[in-house]
Amino acid sequence: MDKTKILFVCLGNICRSPSAEAVMKALIKSENVTEAFELDSAGITAYHAGDPADERMQRHAIQRGYHLTSISRQVNSTSDFDYFDYIIGMDGQNISDLEGMAPTEESWQKISLMTDYCSNHQHDSVPDPYYGGATGFELVLDILEDACRGLLESIQNEKE
Ligand code: 4NP
Repeated sequence: MDKTKILFVCLGNICRSPSAEAVMKALIKSENVTEAFELDSAGITAYHAGDPADERMQRHAIQRGYHLTSISRQVNSTSDFDYFDYIIGMDGQNISDLEGMAPTEESWQKISLMTDYCSNHQHDSVPDPYYGGATGFELVLDILEDACRGLLESIQNEKE
């Protein structure tokens, strides 16, 4: 069976999207479906390309058992849109930027907003925690845990 390939995207690929990748990785492991997925994350910008995840984000994530191991890279507007099945942005600006990059109608259809998969949180974005304090990092993880459960359910329903 072909793996479902998911790319999580935020602005810098050092806070929200590496966290989304780690939360999803832990979820699919706990559900025993790791082999069915391939996960990655990337940034709209290359500002932090080559950097590990933000230390504050890492610290909050590790308290919940998530290890942020990814290294920042920029979205590749040709290969990523071709390769991945789902390209998931964290906020409306990410979505506009991704829509602007999508090379074909088919790749445009792969784009979705992370919070659209939430069932417990009412947020319409995963708020950028970079310039804020501890509560912002915790909120990112709260929203992502909710959204990842919904995303997995949505993909599993689609496959049925
Ligand atoms: P992220 O957070 O998009 O969740 O990785 C940010 C990281 C860096 C910057 C902004 C947001 N920055 O401006 O450098």
